[in-house]
Amino acid sequence: MEKYSRRKLLQLSLISSVAGILGISSSLVKALALTPTPSETEGPFYPVINQKDKDADLTQIEGYINHADGQFIVISGRVIDVSGRPVGKAMLDIWQADANGRYRHPRDPNKSRLDHNFQGWAVIQTDEEGLYRFKTVMPGAYPASSTWTRPPHIHVKIFKPGYVALATQMYFPNQELNKSDLLLSQKSAIEQSAMIAMEKAREGNIIFYEYNIILDLLRN
Ligand SMILES: [Fe+2]
Repeated sequence: MEKYSRRKLLQLSLISSVAGILGISSSLVKALALTPTPSETEGPFYPVINQKDKDADLTQIEGYINHADGQFIVISGRVIDVSGRPVGKAMLDIWQADANGRYRHPRDPNKSRLDHNFQGWAVIQTDEEGLYRFKTVMPGAYPASSTWTRPPHIHVKIFKPGYVALATQMYFPNQELNKSDLLLSQKSAIEQSAMIAMEKAREGNIIFYEYNIILDLLRN
């Protein structure tokens, strides 16, 4: 499924470029447009207390000696629009639970220990090519109710003037809890494949994932 999405994405991006060169009508290109990344609820744990360090390395807070606990991961990818064009200078607002499944949020009822060395929140930008990258830890699963455990996920909001703002959640492959999650399981198979990152490599103690995001254009 993931391979299909990637191939389709590349094909449509190419079609869009070729259509532009050949002067093919924009309505034809529009009919072939990519599907925007599915949206998902922000949930109750968007940060409410501001913090100085919101950089792209969530594994260490500026001025702290120790690193966060857990499996270090690097997420990278490209933000594009529905016609396959890169979205440069888009803002990504990223927040997640620590390796213990605990949010740095005063109303998180989870009794797990808060990792005080984990940054928990980042605000970063894509470059001119639409590329972004951040380093973090694999978020822990956490109880959303007595019968529902959320799988590891990272919350992301993406903004750029001229595009529909997107709030979504990024999931991880090969997570048993993905199947029983009351949010992710509501999505179609194609939507789920768009919301689950792809593992790209393992080097040293870091796992690298790719997660691409497709934004819709704001139409007046
Ligand atoms: Fe969450």
